[in-house]
Amino acid sequence: MTNRPKRYTITAALPYANGPLHIGHLAGAYLSSDIYARYLRLLGEDVAFICGSDEHGAAITIQAKKEGTTPQAIVDKYNQNIKETFEKLNVSFDIYHRTSEQIHHQTAQDFFRQLHANGEFTEKTTEQYYDEEHQQFLADRYIKGTCPKCSHDSAYGDQCENCGSTLSPTELINPSSTLSGNKPILKSTTHWFLSLDKHSEWLSKWIDSGILDGVQHHDPKEWKNHVLGQCRSWISDLQPRAMTRDLDWGIDVPQELEGAEGKKLYVWLDAPIGYISATKQWAKDNGKDWELYWKDKDTKLVHFIGKDNIVFHCIIFPAILKSAGDYILPENVPANQFLNLQGDKLSTSRNWAVWAHEYLEDTKDTITNNVDVLRYVLIRNMPEQKDSEFTWENFKELNDTELTAKVANFVNRVIVLANKYYEGIVPTPDTSLSIYSGTEENKSSSYENEIAEIKKIVLQCGKYIEQYEFRNALKTVLDLAAFGNQFLQFNEPWKTVKTDPEAVKVVLNLSLQLVEALSVIIQPFLPQTSERTRSLLNAGALGNGAWNELVEDLKTNKSRIGNGHQINKQFYLFEKIPAEVIDEQIAKLGKTEDGAIVYPEIKEEASFDDFMKMDIRTGTIVEAEKVPKAKKLLKLKVDIGMEERTVVSGIAEFYQPEDIVGQQVLILVNLAPRKLRGVLSEGMVLMAENEKGELAFVSPQAGFGNGFTVR
Ligand code: MF3
Ligand code: ZN
Repeated sequence: MTNRPKRYTITAALPYANGPLHIGHLAGAYLSSDIYARYLRLLGEDVAFICGSDEHGAAITIQAKKEGTTPQAIVDKYNQNIKETFEKLNVSFDIYHRTSEQIHHQTAQDFFRQLHANGEFTEKTTEQYYDEEHQQFLADRYIKGTCPKCSHDSAYGDQCENCGSTLSPTELINPSSTLSGNKPILKSTTHWFLSLDKHSEWLSKWIDSGILDGVQHHDPKEWKNHVLGQCRSWISDLQPRAMTRDLDWGIDVPQELEGAEGKKLYVWLDAPIGYISATKQWAKDNGKDWELYWKDKDTKLVHFIGKDNIVFHCIIFPAILKSAGDYILPENVPANQFLNLQGDKLSTSRNWAVWAHEYLEDTKDTITNNVDVLRYVLIRNMPEQKDSEFTWENFKELNDTELTAKVANFVNRVIVLANKYYEGIVPTPDTSLSIYSGTEENKSSSYENEIAEIKKIVLQCGKYIEQYEFRNALKTVLDLAAFGNQFLQFNEPWKTVKTDPEAVKVVLNLSLQLVEALSVIIQPFLPQTSERTRSLLNAGALGNGAWNELVEDLKTNKSRIGNGHQINKQFYLFEKIPAEVIDEQIAKLGKTEDGAIVYPEIKEEASFDDFMKMDIRTGTIVEAEKVPKAKKLLKLKVDIGMEERTVVSGIAEFYQPEDIVGQQVLILVNLAPRKLRGVLSEGMVLMAENEKGELAFVSPQAGFGNGFTVR
């Protein structure tokens, strides 16, 4: 490749140290970044792969309250847990740091001083929500209320988790404090605001055309569409944003500044600076110069994140970096979308999640190579361009039909045959012989041709990784195994070993070279499988630059597993997963650790008047049809005695339209009408939802008439 940068700084979003990692985290930022970093190291590139725990902000203090302990205890516990899980999953960070470290507090405060000195802040006094009972200002996450966009009844002050809208606390309808449950009052407070509005011109130029300070910084066509889309909608309306908070957990605003007392840095100012502090620590430990990784124009900076972090990494942090002085900006922010689980959104409060540390423990004796099976399934389904889905059924399917039937089977056949025919000693091939190819049933191929085919696949795989197309890249690894299987199938060495032993030597020698190539290109995705495959080959560990060496050797037809080399005896790389293992995992969803169902928390108190405001009636569904292009929605006509109502209901995954005509229901008839997919919905059919997210009708006794009130 031409025009490579001198070095790479690769960051993965710092996870909040407020809970363990689940598969959504892994599919979001950590596997993609690990593949990219591992690949670049195999190219011999200079890489700093940076991560650590995000230990400040309301995410931490809220969890501390929930667990009845201190924020410090929470971050200590989960930092340890998360770090260990990453290690077990072979995520190859060069450093896993913490934002509670002294070097980070210092670095973040120095940034704040620098921005202040550069005149980037305006001080503003605004009214903010305050809990009188607890005598404290309420950070966004401490305020809940009804979402103004989708009417979800427990949206947070900064975001609605139901519809994903970004909110500000004062937009919430019926706000309440999560500390006391009281309605908060507005009270004035002074904060430092970053004047983001002043940055909109260069930011929009940079996002739209990739031009920064008059030079082409990156090619915006290489950015994902959904990332560009979110950026553009933000840039069109940039407001000054407060960089400080009234909190008692976090990094102090530099105390020499007037009015700093009792104020902390906004967590989204402090956390991304954590990448820089972590790099400083790593550089110190390894005799490197951290500044090269953040300031040299020849360094390529790439941020790997989930989609909920886009604006912070594409707009706010770049604005901070640019304001602070001579920092580089990211050349790409290949954010992933969200991973759903068994047909439903991941939810930590409902325990609708697969926790990585639990999976590792549960399956260590029942799933062969369990770390790589999980990595494989998550990469195969990575939500690169749109939300995607993890199901245990698919997990078993991919393990059984791809990892076992294609990858393990191919490698196993080669190792078994080489042991059987040659006692594991690599045969010397007569490369002038013609053999069947691995792509078509045609005996006009040669050793050289087949090596050239392998090279093609290897190069394609690398190309995909460089374009952040990790699903496609992984598929090329599978292509290589499929190619190998075909090659064996067409040549049938088990039939010709007696009649044409010289050709079989060529076939098996080539197959061993293919297995070796597989062990290299599979390494970024499935590092343990790479190691296990190399141990079958009795080949040494892969060093930095190994991918390049492979490509060079393939170009010059140099065999990498030499003639006469002794390989090892076979063992299985992967094996089929028994159905019970999967059933057990499915049964755990929505339950607590000891198997009890996780019931939703009881909502805040409602007065008798609140309840009486709701007009709930008996009714009967008289018509039902699918809403086009909406896989969850049905359009219903409900007879409520005096009239019929049209209602759009999210039940299509559980009921067929033809099965529910005649179904008696309860319906909220005085809900404000709203348009869903272009259809005006005039009420809400009441449904019960269980721990698995399944829905069921709630009905009056059979034969009870329509139109009567429920109380
Ligand atoms: N802790 C944040 C989250 O989990 C991510 C922080 S990324 C950083 O959403 F850049 F701020 F570090
Ligand atoms: Zn909403």
